Amino acid sequence: MSKPNTMLDNKGFTLWFTGLSSSGKTTLALLISDRLKEHGYQNIEILDGDIVRTNLSKGLGFSKEDRMTNMRRVGFVCHLLTRNGVPNIAALISPYAEIRDEIRTKIGNFIEVYIKCSLEACEKRDVKGLYKKARAGFIKDFTGIDSPYEPPINPDVICDSEKENPEQCADKIIDKIKSLGYFSTNMENSF
Ligand code: ADX
Repeated sequence: MSKPNTMLDNKGFTLWFTGLSSSGKTTLALLISDRLKEHGYQNIEILDGDIVRTNLSKGLGFSKEDRMTNMRRVGFVCHLLTRNGVPNIAALISPYAEIRDEIRTKIGNFIEVYIKCSLEACEKRDVKGLYKKARAGFIKDFTGIDSPYEPPINPDVICDSEKENPEQCADKIIDKIKSLGYFSTNMENSF
């Protein structure tokens, strides 16, 4: 398996995962990261909402303004990574279409991945028990309950986590990276 020579051919790209809480963003981000590593990429960064909010965006809440700030901060880091040839994955709810589009324009090599999952299914999964708390009124401005989510109108990839398993979703994303020509040329044949 060939290793990418980042000195000669350093294409970076951003995979921007958007979807409701419990839709499967983190699971898929970890899987894609593993897949890329298997194929020789050594440096991949994941910017996961829950982690970002403990450092880069510590102190931000869930108002529209704070979420926009959160998205823009993560978008800025993704931009820096991408321009330095480091593939990166943002896994944020990122509910506002306008800000996602703004970030796309800034980054260029950007793939918007809609992790599609109905509110009912996310609520049933309730991985962190937060939907229950939101329904009970203990958490305000919860996405899908009393805060909006704007699904992408024309995402590059749709992963339907109610119908497709993570492996199938990962295959679709890898195919998209390939078809857009974002893989380093010495990597293309390893996929
Ligand atoms: S975003 O809207 O600003 O993109 P982000 O992905 O960073 O959200 O954070 C979402 C995570 O924060 C959720 O997965 C959940 O664990 C937690 N969380 C806590 N409060 C809320 C809330 N009011 N709405 C959504 N998620 C919340």
